[in-house]
Amino acid sequence: MKRIIFSLLAIFAVALVATAAGKCVMRLLGEGHSIVTVEGDNKYILLPVQDNSPESRISVINDNNIVYRMNVRLAKDKVDYFVPYSVNKGDALHIHVPYDPNNTQSLHDTNSGDGIWMKHITCSDSFTPQGEKYRPSYHFAPTYGWMNDPNGMFWKDGVYYLYYQYNPFGAVWGNMSWGHATSTDLVHWKHEPVAMLGDGVGAIFSGSAVVDKENCAGFGKDAIVAFYTSADERQTQSMAHSTDNGMSFVKYPANPILTSQARDFRDPKVIWHAASQKWIMCLAVGQEMQFFSSTNLKDWSYESSFGAGEGCHGGVWECPDLVNLPVEGTDESKWVLFCNINPGGPFGGSATQYFVGDFDGSKFTIDTPGKTKWMDYGKDHYAAVTWSNVPDSRCIAIAWMSNWQYAGIVPTKYFRSANSLPRELSLYSFDGELYIKSAPVKEITDILSPVVKNRRFSVSKAAKSVAIPASLGSAFNISLSIDRASSEAASFSLVNNDGDTVIFTLTADSFAVDRTKSGKCDFSDEFACVTSAPINSTAKMVSLSIYVDNSSIEVFGDNGRFVLTNLVFPQSPFNKMVFASQKGKFKVVNLSINKINL
Ligand code: FRU
Repeated sequence: MKRIIFSLLAIFAVALVATAAGKCVMRLLGEGHSIVTVEGDNKYILLPVQDNSPESRISVINDNNIVYRMNVRLAKDKVDYFVPYSVNKGDALHIHVPYDPNNTQSLHDTNSGDGIWMKHITCSDSFTPQGEKYRPSYHFAPTYGWMNDPNGMFWKDGVYYLYYQYNPFGAVWGNMSWGHATSTDLVHWKHEPVAMLGDGVGAIFSGSAVVDKENCAGFGKDAIVAFYTSADERQTQSMAHSTDNGMSFVKYPANPILTSQARDFRDPKVIWHAASQKWIMCLAVGQEMQFFSSTNLKDWSYESSFGAGEGCHGGVWECPDLVNLPVEGTDESKWVLFCNINPGGPFGGSATQYFVGDFDGSKFTIDTPGKTKWMDYGKDHYAAVTWSNVPDSRCIAIAWMSNWQYAGIVPTKYFRSANSLPRELSLYSFDGELYIKSAPVKEITDILSPVVKNRRFSVSKAAKSVAIPASLGSAFNISLSIDRASSEAASFSLVNNDGDTVIFTLTADSFAVDRTKSGKCDFSDEFACVTSAPINSTAKMVSLSIYVDNSSIEVFGDNGRFVLTNLVFPQSPFNKMVFASQKGKFKVVNLSINKINL
Protein backbone atom coordinates (compact mmCIF):
# COMPACT_ATOMS: atom_id res chain seq x y z
CA MET A 1 0.00 0.00 0.00
CA LYS A 2 2.81 2.32 0.96
CA ARG A 3 4.41 1.71 -2.45
CA ILE A 4 1.14 2.46 -4.27
CA ILE A 5 0.70 5.75 -2.50
CA PHE A 6 4.28 6.59 -3.27
CA SER A 7 3.84 5.81 -6.99
CA LEU A 8 0.68 7.91 -7.14
CA LEU A 9 2.55 10.74 -5.55
CA ALA A 10 5.33 10.32 -8.09
CA ILE A 11 2.90 10.66 -10.99
CA PHE A 12 1.78 14.03 -9.69
CA ALA A 13 5.21 14.98 -8.60
CA VAL A 14 6.17 17.47 -11.27
CA ALA A 15 5.11 20.95 -10.27
CA LEU A 16 3.90 19.56 -6.97
CA VAL A 17 4.73 22.69 -5.12
CA ALA A 18 3.33 25.96 -6.27
CA THR A 19 2.57 28.89 -4.07
CA ALA A 20 1.77 32.53 -4.57
CA ALA A 21 5.40 33.23 -3.81
CA GLY A 22 6.70 31.24 -6.74
CA LYS A 23 7.05 27.82 -8.17
CA CYS A 24 9.40 25.07 -7.22
CA VAL A 25 9.39 22.26 -9.70
CA MET A 26 9.91 18.95 -8.02
CA ARG A 27 10.69 15.67 -9.68
CA LEU A 28 10.45 12.67 -7.41
CA LEU A 29 12.97 10.04 -8.40
CA GLY A 30 11.96 7.36 -5.97
CA GLU A 31 12.09 6.92 -2.24
CA GLY A 32 14.33 9.45 -0.66
CA HIS A 33 15.47 11.24 -3.78
CA SER A 34 14.11 14.23 -5.63
CA ILE A 35 15.26 17.14 -7.75
CA VAL A 36 14.00 20.65 -7.11
CA THR A 37 14.43 23.50 -9.55
CA VAL A 38 12.94 26.96 -9.85
CA GLU A 39 10.46 27.74 -12.54
CA GLY A 40 11.03 31.33 -13.51
CA ASP A 41 13.72 33.36 -11.87
CA ASN A 42 12.97 33.46 -8.17
CA LYS A 43 15.93 34.41 -6.01
CA TYR A 44 15.49 31.89 -3.26
CA ILE A 45 14.34 28.40 -2.55
CA LEU A 46 12.94 28.48 0.97
CA LEU A 47 13.77 25.21 2.66
CA PRO A 48 11.46 24.09 5.48
CA VAL A 49 13.50 22.95 8.47
CA GLN A 50 12.74 20.94 11.57
CA ASP A 51 15.64 21.00 14.01
CA ASN A 52 15.16 17.45 15.19
CA SER A 53 14.72 15.87 11.77
CA PRO A 54 17.65 13.86 10.46
CA GLU A 55 19.91 15.62 7.96
CA SER A 56 19.02 15.36 4.29
CA ARG A 57 21.91 15.64 1.86
CA ILE A 58 21.46 18.26 -0.80
CA SER A 59 23.79 18.61 -3.78
CA VAL A 60 23.47 21.75 -5.83
CA ILE A 61 24.03 20.81 -9.47
CA ASN A 62 24.72 23.40 -12.10
CA ASP A 63 25.68 22.54 -15.64
CA ASN A 64 26.04 18.91 -14.57
CA ASN A 65 28.59 19.70 -11.88
CA ILE A 66 28.20 19.65 -8.12
CA VAL A 67 28.76 23.25 -7.08
CA TYR A 68 27.85 22.92 -3.40
CA ARG A 69 26.83 20.31 -0.91
CA MET A 70 24.82 20.98 2.21
CA ASN A 71 23.06 19.00 4.90
CA VAL A 72 19.65 20.34 5.81
CA ARG A 73 17.24 19.03 8.42
CA LEU A 74 14.26 19.09 6.06
CA ALA A 75 11.01 19.09 8.01
CA LYS A 76 9.72 15.63 8.64
CA ASP A 77 6.48 16.34 10.47
CA LYS A 78 6.48 20.04 11.44
CA VAL A 79 8.13 23.13 10.04
CA ASP A 80 10.15 24.96 12.68
CA TYR A 81 11.30 27.68 10.28
CA PHE A 82 12.51 28.31 6.73
CA VAL A 83 16.05 28.97 5.53
CA PRO A 84 16.77 30.53 2.14
CA TYR A 85 18.96 28.91 -0.47
CA SER A 86 20.05 31.68 -2.81
CA VAL A 87 19.57 30.39 -6.35
CA ASN A 88 22.05 30.87 -9.17
CA LYS A 89 20.69 30.53 -12.68
CA GLY A 90 20.56 26.88 -13.65
CA ASP A 91 20.81 25.49 -10.10
CA ALA A 92 19.05 22.22 -9.33
CA LEU A 93 18.88 20.85 -5.81
CA HIS A 94 19.32 17.10 -5.73
CA ILE A 95 17.79 16.15 -2.43
CA HIS A 96 18.49 12.88 -0.67
CA VAL A 97 16.39 12.35 2.43
CA PRO A 98 17.47 9.53 4.73
CA TYR A 99 15.32 6.62 3.76
CA ASP A 100 15.31 3.27 5.41
CA PRO A 101 12.65 0.95 3.94
CA ASN A 102 12.75 -1.19 7.09
CA ASN A 103 12.14 1.70 9.41
CA THR A 104 8.51 2.68 9.62
CA GLN A 105 9.55 5.94 11.21
CA SER A 106 11.62 7.04 8.23
CA LEU A 107 10.69 10.23 6.42
CA HIS A 108 8.68 8.53 3.70
CA ASP A 109 6.35 6.97 6.17
CA THR A 110 4.83 10.20 7.33
CA ASN A 111 1.29 10.89 6.18
CA SER A 112 2.42 13.14 3.41
CA GLY A 113 4.57 10.43 1.96
CA ASP A 114 7.99 12.04 1.95
CA GLY A 115 8.13 14.34 4.94
CA ILE A 116 6.13 17.52 4.98
CA TRP A 117 9.02 19.59 3.61
CA MET A 118 7.74 18.62 0.17
CA LYS A 119 4.52 20.48 0.75
CA HIS A 120 6.18 23.53 2.13
CA ILE A 121 9.27 24.07 0.01
CA THR A 122 8.74 27.38 -1.77
CA CYS A 123 10.46 29.66 -4.23
CA SER A 124 10.48 33.32 -3.44
CA ASP A 125 12.11 36.63 -4.24
CA SER A 126 12.36 37.61 -0.65
CA PHE A 127 13.31 36.19 2.68
CA THR A 128 12.67 38.18 5.83
CA PRO A 129 14.40 36.95 8.97
CA GLN A 130 12.04 36.83 11.92
CA GLY A 131 12.55 38.66 15.17
CA GLU A 132 12.09 36.77 18.41
CA LYS A 133 11.93 37.30 22.14
CA TYR A 134 15.43 36.26 23.08
CA ARG A 135 17.20 38.02 20.24
CA PRO A 136 19.78 40.40 21.69
CA SER A 137 19.48 44.08 20.92
CA TYR A 138 23.06 45.23 21.33
CA HIS A 139 25.05 42.04 20.96
CA PHE A 140 25.95 40.60 17.61
CA ALA A 141 23.84 37.64 16.51
CA PRO A 142 23.19 36.28 13.01
CA THR A 143 19.82 37.25 11.53
CA TYR A 144 19.00 33.55 11.20
CA GLY A 145 20.86 30.26 11.37
CA TRP A 146 23.46 28.93 13.73
CA MET A 147 26.62 30.73 14.87
CA ASN A 148 29.57 29.59 16.96
CA ASP A 149 33.13 30.94 17.17
CA PRO A 150 34.11 34.42 16.04
CA ASN A 151 36.64 34.11 13.20
CA GLY A 152 39.02 36.10 11.03
CA MET A 153 38.61 39.45 12.73
CA PHE A 154 40.64 42.42 11.55
CA TRP A 155 40.35 46.21 11.45
CA LYS A 156 41.00 48.21 8.31
CA ASP A 157 40.26 51.79 7.27
CA GLY A 158 37.90 52.47 10.15
CA VAL A 159 35.95 49.22 9.87
CA TYR A 160 35.91 46.23 12.20
CA TYR A 161 35.46 43.02 10.24
CA LEU A 162 33.89 40.07 11.99
CA TYR A 163 33.45 36.60 10.58
CA TYR A 164 31.95 33.69 12.42
CA GLN A 165 31.30 29.96 12.27
CA TYR A 166 27.96 29.89 10.56
CA ASN A 167 25.33 27.45 9.38
CA PRO A 168 23.21 29.35 6.85
CA PHE A 169 20.89 26.36 6.50
CA GLY A 170 19.71 25.71 10.03
CA ALA A 171 19.81 26.90 13.62
CA VAL A 172 21.92 23.96 14.77
CA TRP A 173 25.59 23.28 13.96
CA GLY A 174 26.42 22.16 10.40
CA ASN A 175 27.54 23.36 6.94
CA MET A 176 30.34 25.35 8.55
CA SER A 177 30.96 28.55 6.65
CA TRP A 178 32.25 31.99 7.51
CA GLY A 179 29.33 34.34 8.12
CA HIS A 180 30.27 37.99 7.91
CA ALA A 181 29.44 41.33 9.51
CA THR A 182 31.07 44.76 9.68
CA SER A 183 30.94 47.63 12.13
CA THR A 184 32.54 51.01 12.59
CA ASP A 185 31.89 51.11 16.34
CA LEU A 186 31.75 47.49 17.57
CA VAL A 187 28.14 48.04 18.60
CA HIS A 188 26.13 48.41 15.39
CA TRP A 189 26.73 45.53 13.01
CA LYS A 190 25.89 45.33 9.35
CA HIS A 191 25.15 41.83 8.13
CA GLU A 192 27.17 41.01 5.04
CA PRO A 193 26.79 38.06 2.67
CA VAL A 194 28.42 34.79 3.72
CA ALA A 195 32.15 35.18 3.03
CA MET A 196 33.18 31.56 2.54
CA LEU A 197 31.17 28.38 2.07
CA GLY A 198 32.61 24.89 2.43
CA ASP A 199 34.32 23.38 -0.63
CA GLY A 200 35.96 20.20 -1.88
CA VAL A 201 38.77 20.50 0.68
CA GLY A 202 36.34 20.61 3.60
CA ALA A 203 33.99 22.67 5.70
CA ILE A 204 35.34 26.08 6.73
CA PHE A 205 36.19 25.85 10.41
CA SER A 206 37.61 28.56 12.65
CA GLY A 207 40.57 30.74 11.83
CA SER A 208 41.92 34.24 11.57
CA ALA A 209 42.90 36.96 9.10
CA VAL A 210 45.70 39.50 8.77
CA VAL A 211 46.25 42.64 6.74
CA ASP A 212 49.34 41.90 4.65
CA LYS A 213 50.80 45.40 4.64
CA GLU A 214 54.13 44.46 3.04
CA ASN A 215 52.67 42.08 0.49
CA CYS A 216 54.54 39.12 1.98
CA ALA A 217 52.17 36.64 0.34
CA GLY A 218 52.19 38.30 -3.08
CA PHE A 219 48.45 38.92 -3.25
CA GLY A 220 49.03 42.67 -3.22
CA LYS A 221 49.82 45.30 -0.63
CA ASP A 222 47.19 45.41 2.11
CA ALA A 223 45.49 42.26 0.86
CA ILE A 224 43.56 40.44 3.54
CA VAL A 225 44.89 36.94 4.05
CA ALA A 226 42.62 34.54 5.89
CA PHE A 227 43.55 31.21 7.44
CA TYR A 228 41.05 28.55 8.39
CA THR A 229 40.76 24.86 9.03
CA SER A 230 39.42 22.78 6.17
CA ALA A 231 37.51 20.08 7.97
CA ASP A 232 36.84 16.84 6.18
CA GLU A 233 37.51 13.43 7.67
CA ARG A 234 40.78 14.98 8.81
CA GLN A 235 41.61 18.58 9.54
CA THR A 236 44.08 20.65 7.51
CA GLN A 237 44.90 24.36 7.31
CA SER A 238 43.93 26.43 4.29
CA MET A 239 44.23 30.03 3.22
CA ALA A 240 42.31 32.53 1.09
CA HIS A 241 42.86 36.16 0.23
CA SER A 242 40.73 39.17 -0.41
CA THR A 243 41.52 42.35 -2.29
CA ASP A 244 38.14 43.95 -1.57
CA ASN A 245 38.52 44.30 2.18
CA GLY A 246 37.19 40.91 3.08
CA MET A 247 33.95 41.12 1.10
CA SER A 248 34.95 38.25 -1.16
CA PHE A 249 37.74 35.71 -0.81
CA VAL A 250 39.75 33.78 -3.36
CA LYS A 251 40.78 30.43 -1.96
CA TYR A 252 44.41 29.46 -2.46
CA PRO A 253 44.57 26.86 -5.25
CA ALA A 254 47.22 24.78 -3.46
CA ASN A 255 45.17 24.32 -0.27
CA PRO A 256 45.73 22.79 2.20
CA ILE A 257 48.91 24.60 3.21
CA LEU A 258 49.53 22.61 6.39
CA THR A 259 48.65 19.03 7.22
CA SER A 260 49.13 16.66 10.11
CA GLN A 261 48.12 13.20 11.18
CA ALA A 262 46.71 14.56 14.43
CA ARG A 263 42.93 14.27 14.58
CA ASP A 264 42.34 17.59 16.29
CA PHE A 265 44.43 20.04 14.30
CA ARG A 266 42.70 23.34 13.90
CA ASP A 267 41.85 27.00 14.37
CA PRO A 268 44.91 28.82 12.94
CA LYS A 269 45.56 32.20 14.51
CA VAL A 270 48.17 34.16 12.60
CA ILE A 271 49.98 37.19 14.03
CA TRP A 272 52.94 39.32 12.95
CA HIS A 273 55.84 38.94 15.40
CA ALA A 274 57.81 42.15 14.94
CA ALA A 275 60.84 41.16 17.00
CA SER A 276 61.64 38.13 14.85
CA GLN A 277 60.17 39.67 11.66
CA LYS A 278 58.09 36.53 11.11
CA TRP A 279 54.48 35.54 10.84
CA ILE A 280 53.49 33.13 13.58
CA MET A 281 50.64 30.66 13.33
CA CYS A 282 49.25 29.21 16.57
CA LEU A 283 47.33 26.01 16.14
CA ALA A 284 45.27 23.94 18.53
CA VAL A 285 46.48 20.36 18.25
CA GLY A 286 44.85 17.85 20.60
CA GLN A 287 45.58 19.21 24.06
CA GLU A 288 48.44 21.52 23.17
CA MET A 289 49.13 24.64 21.17
CA GLN A 290 51.69 24.47 18.37
CA PHE A 291 53.57 27.38 16.85
CA PHE A 292 54.63 27.60 13.21
CA SER A 293 56.48 30.44 11.47
CA SER A 294 56.56 31.84 7.96
CA THR A 295 57.83 34.82 6.01
CA ASN A 296 55.46 34.50 3.04
CA LEU A 297 52.28 33.31 4.80
CA LYS A 298 52.22 30.25 2.55
CA ASP A 299 55.08 28.05 3.73
CA TRP A 300 55.04 27.25 7.41
CA SER A 301 57.72 25.64 9.60
CA TYR A 302 57.06 24.03 12.94
CA GLU A 303 58.64 25.92 15.85
CA SER A 304 57.44 24.48 19.14
CA SER A 305 54.55 23.17 21.23
CA PHE A 306 53.16 24.36 24.52
CA GLY A 307 50.76 22.73 26.90
CA ALA A 308 52.03 19.47 28.32
CA GLY A 309 51.48 19.62 32.05
CA GLU A 310 50.12 23.18 31.92
CA GLY A 311 46.60 24.41 32.58
CA CYS A 312 43.47 22.29 32.37
CA HIS A 313 43.24 19.26 30.18
CA GLY A 314 39.64 18.19 30.68
CA GLY A 315 38.99 18.44 26.94
CA VAL A 316 40.47 19.47 23.59
CA TRP A 317 42.25 22.77 23.26
CA GLU A 318 40.73 25.00 20.61
CA CYS A 319 40.87 28.51 19.18
CA PRO A 320 44.26 29.81 20.33
CA ASP A 321 45.33 33.42 20.29
CA LEU A 322 48.66 34.99 21.15
CA VAL A 323 48.58 38.65 22.13
CA ASN A 324 50.96 41.13 23.62
CA LEU A 325 49.27 43.04 26.43
CA PRO A 326 50.35 46.08 28.40
CA VAL A 327 50.79 45.59 32.14
CA GLU A 328 48.73 48.27 33.90
CA GLY A 329 50.76 50.87 35.73
CA THR A 330 54.07 49.88 34.07
CA ASP A 331 55.80 50.33 30.71
CA GLU A 332 55.99 46.60 30.33
CA SER A 333 54.04 44.22 28.19
CA LYS A 334 53.72 40.45 28.31
CA TRP A 335 52.64 37.72 25.92
CA VAL A 336 49.39 36.00 26.69
CA LEU A 337 48.34 32.71 25.11
CA PHE A 338 44.58 32.09 24.97
CA CYS A 339 43.49 28.54 25.13
CA ASN A 340 39.82 27.77 24.76
CA ILE A 341 39.02 24.36 26.14
CA ASN A 342 36.03 22.10 25.69
CA PRO A 343 34.97 20.37 27.85
CA GLY A 344 36.89 21.06 31.04
CA GLY A 345 35.71 24.59 31.90
CA PRO A 346 35.39 25.48 35.60
CA PHE A 347 31.58 25.11 35.51
CA GLY A 348 31.39 22.32 32.96
CA GLY A 349 31.66 22.44 29.19
CA SER A 350 33.51 25.18 27.38
CA ALA A 351 35.62 28.04 28.78
CA THR A 352 38.65 30.20 28.05
CA GLN A 353 41.88 29.65 29.98
CA TYR A 354 45.02 31.68 29.36
CA PHE A 355 48.72 31.69 30.14
CA VAL A 356 50.91 34.73 30.77
CA GLY A 357 54.55 34.56 29.74
CA ASP A 358 57.01 35.33 26.98
CA PHE A 359 57.19 34.50 23.32
CA ASP A 360 60.48 34.82 21.46
CA GLY A 361 59.25 34.10 17.94
CA SER A 362 59.67 30.40 18.42
CA LYS A 363 58.71 29.31 21.91
CA PHE A 364 56.14 30.34 24.52
CA THR A 365 57.42 30.25 28.10
CA ILE A 366 54.90 30.51 30.93
CA ASP A 367 55.62 32.84 33.88
CA THR A 368 54.07 30.73 36.60
CA PRO A 369 53.92 27.07 35.71
CA GLY A 370 51.06 25.09 37.16
CA LYS A 371 48.57 27.94 37.51
CA THR A 372 45.30 27.94 35.57
CA LYS A 373 43.69 31.30 34.87
CA TRP A 374 40.26 31.82 33.32
CA MET A 375 39.31 34.82 31.28
CA ASP A 376 35.67 34.74 32.31
CA TYR A 377 33.92 33.02 35.19
CA GLY A 378 30.50 32.63 33.63
CA LYS A 379 29.35 29.58 31.78
CA ASP A 380 28.89 31.22 28.39
CA HIS A 381 32.20 32.57 27.20
CA TYR A 382 34.00 30.54 24.59
CA ALA A 383 36.27 30.73 21.56
CA ALA A 384 37.50 34.17 22.64
CA VAL A 385 39.91 35.67 20.10
CA THR A 386 41.06 39.18 19.20
CA TRP A 387 40.92 41.58 16.26
CA SER A 388 44.16 42.07 14.39
CA ASN A 389 45.52 45.40 13.20
CA VAL A 390 43.47 47.57 15.59
CA PRO A 391 44.91 51.11 15.87
CA ASP A 392 46.25 52.66 19.08
CA SER A 393 47.56 49.25 20.19
CA ARG A 394 44.12 48.31 21.43
CA CYS A 395 43.65 44.61 22.02
CA ILE A 396 39.95 43.83 21.58
CA ALA A 397 38.52 40.37 22.15
CA ILE A 398 35.09 38.92 21.54
CA ALA A 399 33.74 35.53 22.56
CA TRP A 400 30.95 33.23 21.50
CA MET A 401 28.35 33.59 24.23
CA SER A 402 27.32 29.99 24.68
CA ASN A 403 28.53 26.61 25.82
CA TRP A 404 28.83 23.43 23.78
CA GLN A 405 26.87 21.60 26.49
CA TYR A 406 23.59 23.14 25.34
CA ALA A 407 24.25 25.64 22.54
CA GLY A 408 22.17 23.66 20.04
CA ILE A 409 19.07 23.46 22.23
CA VAL A 410 18.79 26.88 23.85
CA PRO A 411 15.20 28.17 23.54
CA THR A 412 15.69 30.43 20.53
CA LYS A 413 14.28 29.41 17.21
CA TYR A 414 15.40 31.19 14.05
CA PHE A 415 18.92 31.87 15.24
CA ARG A 416 21.20 30.32 17.81
CA SER A 417 23.93 32.16 19.66
CA ALA A 418 25.17 35.67 20.05
CA ASN A 419 28.62 37.04 20.77
CA SER A 420 29.78 38.61 24.00
CA LEU A 421 30.31 42.34 24.14
CA PRO A 422 33.67 43.25 22.63
CA ARG A 423 36.18 43.70 25.44
CA GLU A 424 39.42 45.60 25.68
CA LEU A 425 42.21 43.62 27.29
CA SER A 426 45.17 44.53 29.47
CA LEU A 427 47.03 42.91 32.36
CA TYR A 428 46.90 43.78 36.04
CA SER A 429 48.93 42.44 38.86
CA PHE A 430 47.61 40.93 42.10
CA ASP A 431 49.62 39.06 44.69
CA GLY A 432 52.61 38.81 42.39
CA GLU A 433 50.60 37.33 39.52
CA LEU A 434 49.45 38.88 36.24
CA TYR A 435 45.81 38.50 35.22
CA ILE A 436 43.75 39.62 32.25
CA LYS A 437 41.53 42.61 32.78
CA SER A 438 38.67 42.47 30.32
CA ALA A 439 36.57 45.64 30.18
CA PRO A 440 33.72 46.49 27.81
CA VAL A 441 35.05 48.63 24.96
CA LYS A 442 34.59 52.37 25.37
CA GLU A 443 32.31 52.37 22.29
CA ILE A 444 29.67 50.72 24.50
CA THR A 445 30.33 52.56 27.75
CA ASP A 446 30.14 55.84 25.79
CA ILE A 447 26.53 55.23 24.84
CA LEU A 448 25.13 54.62 28.32
CA SER A 449 22.89 57.23 29.83
CA PRO A 450 21.36 56.99 33.30
CA VAL A 451 17.62 56.60 33.72
CA VAL A 452 17.94 55.95 37.44
CA LYS A 453 20.85 57.94 38.74
CA ASN A 454 23.36 57.73 41.56
CA ARG A 455 21.22 56.04 44.18
CA ARG A 456 22.87 55.40 47.52
CA PHE A 457 21.55 53.34 50.42
CA SER A 458 22.42 50.86 53.16
CA VAL A 459 21.20 47.31 53.16
CA SER A 460 20.65 44.98 56.06
CA LYS A 461 18.56 41.82 56.30
CA ALA A 462 15.29 43.47 55.22
CA ALA A 463 14.95 43.47 51.46
CA LYS A 464 15.15 46.78 49.63
CA SER A 465 14.01 47.05 46.06
CA VAL A 466 14.67 49.39 43.16
CA ALA A 467 12.43 49.35 40.10
CA ILE A 468 13.93 49.02 36.64
CA PRO A 469 12.02 51.46 34.42
CA ALA A 470 9.73 49.65 31.98
CA SER A 471 10.96 51.93 29.19
CA LEU A 472 14.22 50.00 29.20
CA GLY A 473 12.56 46.73 28.23
CA SER A 474 15.02 43.90 28.64
CA ALA A 475 18.19 45.64 27.45
CA PHE A 476 19.99 47.87 29.92
CA ASN A 477 23.07 48.35 32.03
CA ILE A 478 23.25 48.56 35.80
CA SER A 479 26.28 50.10 37.42
CA LEU A 480 26.86 50.23 41.13
CA SER A 481 29.51 49.94 43.78
CA ILE A 482 29.13 47.85 46.87
CA ASP A 483 30.92 48.79 50.04
CA ARG A 484 31.20 45.41 51.68
CA ALA A 485 31.42 47.04 55.14
CA SER A 486 30.41 44.40 57.70
CA SER A 487 28.49 42.14 55.31
CA GLU A 488 29.65 38.58 54.89
CA ALA A 489 27.49 38.09 51.82
CA ALA A 490 26.13 41.18 50.10
CA SER A 491 23.46 39.98 47.78
CA PHE A 492 21.02 41.37 45.25
CA SER A 493 18.75 39.91 42.60
CA LEU A 494 17.18 40.76 39.31
CA VAL A 495 13.54 39.80 39.44
CA ASN A 496 10.60 39.84 37.02
CA ASN A 497 6.81 39.58 37.34
CA ASP A 498 6.91 35.87 36.63
CA GLY A 499 9.07 35.16 39.65
CA ASP A 500 12.23 34.51 37.66
CA THR A 501 15.28 35.66 39.52
CA VAL A 502 19.04 35.89 39.08
CA ILE A 503 20.96 36.22 42.33
CA PHE A 504 24.30 38.00 42.58
CA THR A 505 26.34 37.46 45.73
CA LEU A 506 29.50 39.22 46.79
CA THR A 507 31.62 37.72 49.57
CA ALA A 508 35.07 38.70 50.81
CA ASP A 509 36.79 36.88 48.00
CA SER A 510 34.21 35.88 45.40
CA PHE A 511 31.36 37.07 43.24
CA ALA A 512 28.67 34.60 42.18
CA VAL A 513 25.80 34.60 39.69
CA ASP A 514 23.01 32.12 40.38
CA ARG A 515 20.75 31.46 37.39
CA THR A 516 19.09 28.34 38.75
CA LYS A 517 15.72 30.15 38.85
CA SER A 518 16.34 32.56 35.99
CA GLY A 519 13.45 31.44 33.76
CA LYS A 520 13.59 28.67 31.18
CA CYS A 521 16.26 26.27 32.37
CA ASP A 522 14.78 22.87 31.69
CA PHE A 523 16.00 22.49 28.11
CA SER A 524 19.27 21.08 29.49
CA ASP A 525 20.38 19.58 32.80
CA GLU A 526 23.62 21.50 32.42
CA PHE A 527 22.02 24.94 32.24
CA ALA A 528 20.82 25.76 35.77
CA CYS A 529 23.98 26.64 37.67
CA VAL A 530 25.82 29.03 39.95
CA THR A 531 29.07 30.40 38.56
CA SER A 532 31.54 32.24 40.70
CA ALA A 533 34.65 34.37 40.18
CA PRO A 534 37.51 34.97 42.60
CA ILE A 535 37.99 38.65 43.39
CA ASN A 536 41.58 39.69 43.01
CA SER A 537 41.28 42.70 45.27
CA THR A 538 41.29 43.43 48.95
CA ALA A 539 39.42 46.72 48.59
CA LYS A 540 36.19 47.03 50.59
CA MET A 541 34.49 48.78 47.67
CA VAL A 542 33.75 46.66 44.61
CA SER A 543 32.37 48.20 41.43
CA LEU A 544 30.06 46.28 39.14
CA SER A 545 28.79 47.00 35.66
CA ILE A 546 26.09 44.59 34.57
CA TYR A 547 24.91 44.36 30.97
CA VAL A 548 21.51 42.72 30.51
CA ASP A 549 20.35 42.02 26.96
CA ASN A 550 17.23 39.85 26.54
CA SER A 551 18.98 36.55 27.03
CA SER A 552 22.37 37.38 28.53
CA ILE A 553 23.92 38.92 31.61
CA GLU A 554 27.55 40.02 31.62
CA VAL A 555 28.99 41.21 34.90
CA PHE A 556 32.18 43.27 34.73
CA GLY A 557 33.53 43.56 38.27
CA ASP A 558 36.22 45.92 39.37
CA ASN A 559 36.44 47.45 35.86
CA GLY A 560 36.92 44.07 34.22
CA ARG A 561 39.26 42.44 36.73
CA PHE A 562 36.65 39.74 37.07
CA VAL A 563 33.97 38.95 34.51
CA LEU A 564 31.04 36.54 34.44
CA THR A 565 29.10 35.96 31.22
CA ASN A 566 25.92 33.93 31.47
CA LEU A 567 22.89 33.28 29.31
CA VAL A 568 19.42 33.55 30.84
CA PHE A 569 15.97 32.98 29.37
CA PRO A 570 13.53 34.85 31.64
CA GLN A 571 9.82 34.67 30.85
CA SER A 572 9.50 38.45 30.92
CA PRO A 573 11.92 41.37 31.33
CA PHE A 574 13.63 41.76 34.69
CA ASN A 575 11.99 44.83 36.17
CA LYS A 576 13.22 45.03 39.75
CA MET A 577 16.42 44.78 41.75
CA VAL A 578 16.12 43.43 45.27
CA PHE A 579 18.95 43.95 47.76
CA ALA A 580 19.48 42.04 51.00
CA SER A 581 22.34 41.19 53.28
CA GLN A 582 22.67 37.62 54.43
CA LYS A 583 24.73 38.67 57.46
CA GLY A 584 25.80 42.16 58.56
CA LYS A 585 25.30 45.33 56.52
CA PHE A 586 26.52 46.71 53.24
CA LYS A 587 26.25 49.98 51.37
CA VAL A 588 25.24 50.53 47.78
CA VAL A 589 26.68 53.65 46.17
CA ASN A 590 26.44 55.15 42.70
CA LEU A 591 23.65 52.84 41.62
CA SER A 592 22.59 53.85 38.13
CA ILE A 593 20.37 52.03 35.71
CA ASN A 594 21.42 52.98 32.23
CA LYS A 595 19.81 53.04 28.86
CA ILE A 596 21.94 51.83 26.00
CA ASN A 597 21.54 54.47 23.31
CA LEU A 598 21.78 52.55 20.11
C1 FRU B 1 35.26 25.60 18.72
C2 FRU B 1 35.27 24.73 17.48
C3 FRU B 1 36.57 24.91 16.73
C4 FRU B 1 36.20 24.54 15.33
C5 FRU B 1 34.80 25.07 15.24
C6 FRU B 1 33.90 24.28 14.35
O1 FRU B 1 34.03 25.96 19.16
O2 FRU B 1 35.07 23.38 17.83
O3 FRU B 1 37.65 24.19 17.25
O4 FRU B 1 37.05 25.10 14.38
O5 FRU B 1 34.28 25.10 16.55
O6 FRU B 1 32.69 24.92 14.16
